[in-house]
Amino acid sequence: MRLPSLLLLCFAACGPSSSVDEGLGVIQELDTSEQGITAFVRAGQYSAWLAEPSVHETRAPHGSKVRVFFNDVVERSLRDGNAIHPVGSILVKELFEDDGKTLRGHALDVKIAEGPGKDTWIFYEGFGPDYSNNYYGRAHSTCHGCHSDGKDYVTSPLP
Ligand code: HEC
Repeated sequence: MRLPSLLLLCFAACGPSSSVDEGLGVIQELDTSEQGITAFVRAGQYSAWLAEPSVHETRAPHGSKVRVFFNDVVERSLRDGNAIHPVGSILVKELFEDDGKTLRGHALDVKIAEGPGKDTWIFYEGFGPDYSNNYYGRAHSTCHGCHSDGKDYVTSPLP
């Protein structure tokens, strides 16, 4: 029968993964391992960054309501209108339930190498309560497609 083997495949590919690390160390005070990014977003270490003024409807399937935060590196780069953002650019997107108040999880992009292309970003997305089955990786295949519509993979304008 086909179905059980498909399910088995999905279990192997989609099940909780152990912590992964692209081996790029600390960039702009962010430990870029999966575990490091999880700790960073759960602790809200981005909360003093430039933020969109309020939670709004998403244009993407990231949960229904979102709010994006920009670190100072990408803020400066977006202000300068750069086509390519510098290493250390970090964006965080808070993902909310329909009520726009209950935080479900986080997405984070961090620029980890100079120049253009999907390989210059680590993409991360994780959900509470455990953040145990996260998207994580350089040029993550689930993420780079839509984001290639943006300017160097950034799709949100500065608030
Ligand atoms: C179907 C298209 C689509 C996919 C797939 C997608 N995104 Fe997004 N993403 C968007 C759009 C559109 C926005 C702009 C904000 C909004 O409307 O939610 C966005 C915003 C973001 C932001 C805020 C910074 C920015 O670029 O605007 C982050 C961080 C982010 N996404 C991470 C991810 C990660 C990580 C993945 C993969 C797990 C992913 N995205 C997959 C469409 C997508």
